[in-house]
Amino acid sequence: MLTHAVQATDGAARAGVLRTAHGEVETPVFMPVGTAGTVKAMTADAVRATGARMVLGNTYHLMLRPTAERVARLGGLHRMMDWHGPILTDSGGFQVMSLAKLRKMDEQGVVFRSHIDGSKHALSPERSIAIQHLLGADVTMCLDECTPFPATEAEAANSMRLSMRWAARCREAFVPRDGHGLFGIVQGGVYPDLRAESVAALRAIGFEGYAVGGLAVGEGQETMFRVLEATVPLLPADRPRYLMGVGTPADLVGAVRRGIDMFDCVMPTRSGRTAKAFTRHGALNLRNARHADDGAPLDPDCACPACARHSRAYLHHLFKAEEMLGPMLLTWHNIRYYQDLMRELREAILAGRFEAAAAAIESGWNAAKE
Ligand code: GUN
Ligand code: ZN
Repeated sequence: MLTHAVQATDGAARAGVLRTAHGEVETPVFMPVGTAGTVKAMTADAVRATGARMVLGNTYHLMLRPTAERVARLGGLHRMMDWHGPILTDSGGFQVMSLAKLRKMDEQGVVFRSHIDGSKHALSPERSIAIQHLLGADVTMCLDECTPFPATEAEAANSMRLSMRWAARCREAFVPRDGHGLFGIVQGGVYPDLRAESVAALRAIGFEGYAVGGLAVGEGQETMFRVLEATVPLLPADRPRYLMGVGTPADLVGAVRRGIDMFDCVMPTRSGRTAKAFTRHGALNLRNARHADDGAPLDPDCACPACARHSRAYLHHLFKAEEMLGPMLLTWHNIRYYQDLMRELREAILAGRFEAAAAAIESGWNAAKE
């Protein structure tokens, strides 16, 4: 099975190694999002060159196009996208809720229409697991319902309990294989008692890893951290913990502080395509006219091609001229920045100086507000 060995802790923060069928990954880890069989604007070699060692794929997108069966015929997702490190696939429930049309959910699963061509599809716990097996995921996620925010306590309870019944069906459907694992997803909205109930339900079933879902959906960072504080200490210490769909660099630092090992988010890639850069000195937008004559690098401390070989002025020009290289370079930079941030946190945990490192990182963001 897939395992996670904790090498060091500093407060609640952990440094570890995740062992999968496609290699080892040092944690805390940030997984770039490769929704449709590509980390948008990046070759697989380029993704690896950023330091990334694990990526995310999406059941929802791939089942619609090119279909899970076709991916399997093409040799699986790793081969199809030329990514030979571990892949985690999300289960589809979250994307159905945010993208699909005319959804109908019941105990059995969810029926929906494709956002691409309106065709009708069904996703159940069993079908989601079968699709993730066809894709060849190293980490398979349970089908769940991401409880919307805001939700009343009764709504959040009903939604969470449905996800827990689905989690038991996912466990049944999952076919164990060496180096592969199934992760349960904690739900329960912003209600600590429901989060605790969800953790207990998942622990009773037993998973190779535990994700915290239903966060970064509008509740705000302070509330998200409060939910993590009520949830993470209840999770088994010997299993990896994954915060789904999070977040900003500040979210990552705060979540690592609270014991999270794994992250994914579209933020570095999506922002990169719209000219927003995350740097050691805060976030900035390269479309802004003040960069037009700036010969300085985006981030002098970054080793990515955008920073090592180009000026802010050139990046600004690329976005103004709508050249493809703009999104490519800025995606590369943002992923590299997220990888460097995770590595810095990991090294600080191993050295027992997490809080000092976090404070230095945070002061860097605030020092040069641009
Ligand atoms: N991505 C972000 N949040 C969630 C969630 O709650 N569930 C799933 N499956 N994916 C997510
Ligand atoms: Zn850079």
